[in-house]
Amino acid sequence: MAKEKTYFECGSCGHLSPKWLGVCPGCEEWNTFSEKKIVKEHTKKHKIDISSPGDAAIRLSEVKLGNRERISTNLQEFDRVLGGGLTRGSFSLLGGDPGIGKSTLMLQVAHKCPGLKILYIAGEESASQIKQRAGRIGLNGDNLYVSSSTEVKHVINQARSILPDLLVIDSIQTLFSDELSSLPGSVQQVRECSALLQQIAKKENITTLMIGHVTKEGDIAGPRILEHMVDTVLQFEGDKNHLYRLLRCVKNRFGPAQEVGVFEMKEGGLEEVSNPSALFLSDTTNDVSGNSITCIMEGTRPILVEVQALVSPSSYGTPQRTASGFDQRRLSLLIAVLEKRAGLSYTGQDVYLNIAGGLKISDPAADLAVVSALVSSLKDRVVDSSTLFIGEVGLGGEVRKVSFPEQRLREAAKMGMKKAVTPNFKADVADGVTEMKTAAFISDLF
Ligand code: TYD
Ligand code: MG
Repeated sequence: MAKEKTYFECGSCGHLSPKWLGVCPGCEEWNTFSEKKIVKEHTKKHKIDISSPGDAAIRLSEVKLGNRERISTNLQEFDRVLGGGLTRGSFSLLGGDPGIGKSTLMLQVAHKCPGLKILYIAGEESASQIKQRAGRIGLNGDNLYVSSSTEVKHVINQARSILPDLLVIDSIQTLFSDELSSLPGSVQQVRECSALLQQIAKKENITTLMIGHVTKEGDIAGPRILEHMVDTVLQFEGDKNHLYRLLRCVKNRFGPAQEVGVFEMKEGGLEEVSNPSALFLSDTTNDVSGNSITCIMEGTRPILVEVQALVSPSSYGTPQRTASGFDQRRLSLLIAVLEKRAGLSYTGQDVYLNIAGGLKISDPAADLAVVSALVSSLKDRVVDSSTLFIGEVGLGGEVRKVSFPEQRLREAAKMGMKKAVTPNFKADVADGVTEMKTAAFISDLF
């Protein structure tokens, strides 16, 4: 008997391979390949049928603009991230670590918008658990319809009969179609269910938001095509040990991407933070060496953050270089720049770097603050806490200009900063902050 032809598919991202592989080249997960039979129908040759031409192509100028109505959720931070509210008929994905507050955020939207009819498909919790949580945030829930049925056709039927303003799927990994034999959460199920939901969203103009799990690396789990299919991808991030939460827009077909919203997890649910700089600056004006303040941009928002460095003699042969909230390799690079270009020595010293408040930053404008914190701690000299440091540090020891200097300085002025160390741009835009000097070379700083 002829051997059955098979192929291998990654259960995490849907990558296909003719052979079994230990690590998936698509998502780098281990041990996710499983064997699948090649179904004969798929290999049948298709003849191109030219008798039915389908819809004719039309000129772009003749295309009618659809109704792109925005639904405001009254949660300003949420609306801002979406570029002015949910677009009616849009199909979105919200990802985030377990327990970060995705379900809470959705209930909060229901709470803030009593006029919005929401259908909530609760695949992860029972209706009574949802009710309990709703009690915590003070939601009475007249506008919220909860269903625990996660068979995709039931979901679609419910949506068709209720016609909600917003359909929330919590989560797409719990949805399944009984026509497929695989388990909920498998690539086939996620792909099939989201394709069906997308059709309904577009055809019936039902705004749909799917909640998705994330992998260990923080990417949204499930097939990559999920991200291609949806109009908007939102990511809810934060640190388990801290209360702040960042809602980030990674993809947006209807507005700017990379916008962020800031929330704080409180006893009574998520609270909007309209002034995040206050959240990330430490309350005390502490006069310890190694602290320095910078302003990073998150989307179009300037946020003041405090960089803390500690340089202390190492008791081991190989000194430690530890960074939290900052790229470790970038820290090593900046130390090397200081050693080579400014003649400082970190040999035999442990270096610890921390971004206060648990924030993770990647804006190169923070380089100058990191460098000044490193020098401050090494020399044990305090940096003035009303001075702002912004600038990208190059390998030659030069300080480069950053984007949005005016916004950063304006935010600094608002938070009571008096001086700014920046590469040369006009000080008259500084709005109350005086430019201290051009930091052309790092050793000038101290
Ligand atoms: P949840 O929305 O269940 O997270 P996800 O759906 O992303 O898995 O968030 C649950 C966490 O939020 C839980 O650890 C408790 C906390 N929480 C509060 O601190 N205050 C509240 O009012 C609520 C509702 C939850
Ligand atoms: Mg949840």
